[in-house]
Amino acid sequence: MTSQQHQAQRQRHISRHQWTQSLSRDLHNFVIQLLPTAEELAVKEDVRKLLERLIRTIEPESRLLSFGSTANGFSLRNSDMDLCCLIDSSQPPLSASDLVTMVGDLLERETKFKVKTLPHARIPIVKLSLDPSPGLPYGISSDIGFENRLALENTRLLMSYASIDPVRVRTLVIFLKVWSKRRKINSPYLGTLSSYGYALLVIFFLVHVKNPPVLPNLQQLPPPRPVPYEDTHIGGNDVWFFDDIDLLKERWQSSNTESVGELLIDFFKYYSRDFTYNTGVASIKMGLLKKSAKGWLNEYKDGRDERNRFCIEDPFETDFNVARCVTKEGLYAIRGEFMRASRILAARPERTIMALAQLCEEREDDGYAGAYGAEEE
Ligand code: UTP
Ligand code: MG
Repeated sequence: MTSQQHQAQRQRHISRHQWTQSLSRDLHNFVIQLLPTAEELAVKEDVRKLLERLIRTIEPESRLLSFGSTANGFSLRNSDMDLCCLIDSSQPPLSASDLVTMVGDLLERETKFKVKTLPHARIPIVKLSLDPSPGLPYGISSDIGFENRLALENTRLLMSYASIDPVRVRTLVIFLKVWSKRRKINSPYLGTLSSYGYALLVIFFLVHVKNPPVLPNLQQLPPPRPVPYEDTHIGGNDVWFFDDIDLLKERWQSSNTESVGELLIDFFKYYSRDFTYNTGVASIKMGLLKKSAKGWLNEYKDGRDERNRFCIEDPFETDFNVARCVTKEGLYAIRGEFMRASRILAARPERTIMALAQLCEEREDDGYAGAYGAEEE
């Protein structure tokens, strides 16, 4: 190589570096504006306490806990509040469907919330909403479920991953949530993927794809002390993970120094080009698995059994495919969006903020995913 070619290559290298640095700064600033305000979080906490007090009038031993984005550090402004009611009573427990009906009646009588009950859903819930008002410009909406201890634990797992490397992990997950919502590929009930699914894709990428990894595998590290079976299993599912993040930081440090911009570029590249959608299962606990090894085969009976087009293993409920609602059309749309994002970033428009604006341009809903809409969300 001549010295001129060397120089040109160096120039390109520097400008790529500068471009990804600028992308990282813009990503960071973009995400910060989308975070909930302290006031919003305080209102949500007041609502949680009020609901807890009311529910205790029928179940004195109950606790109402936040899970999902309000509790895992991936919350956007005005996002829904996921609540889980735990009942620590020695009495024989009421069924979740009965509780949904009773709590629904109570809240209808005692509050101004609009109440809808889904006692027969896979996870029975009470849905609450409050219309916007001057004090609450976006209103509020919340789902209350019962005894969903696995969701509380997977929320804690995501929270722990976020706290190992808050800047890189939170920025990526929150950006992916906004991007997928604006591109209309974040609706399990219309055949695409939940926010939880996108968060797992990010963690899978940071633990198992990036080399050196950005995050350790919290479910595979040796436990710092012996753990009794009953403390680490819920309904036969192993929910143990290394949750002492201060201790972890003494013992483990990532040697990956890539910026969040570089990681985002590679994330889109990996899921548009390399992930083996037809045969692979993304498991944050085990790495890339085979559909055949899990018995998650594509059985398209009448072209309608869509369960295993896209496979993301739940970290604790390992026979549960988090992407089970993704239809053929939904997956086509998701992969198309990964490719579009990759193209936009590869083109490296001069102003990185323009790349972000283009990535998150609101997509007109063209109904691609509704054809075989999933049934249970
Ligand atoms: P969401 O997909 O609603 O995530 O799942 P989110 O972060 O709250 O996103 P937005 O802001 O509403 O879009 C909420 C929680 O529900 C549980 C997980 O605990 C997750 O954090 N969940 C969701 C599951 O356990 N399994 C699923 O398949 C989906
Ligand atoms: Mg949610």
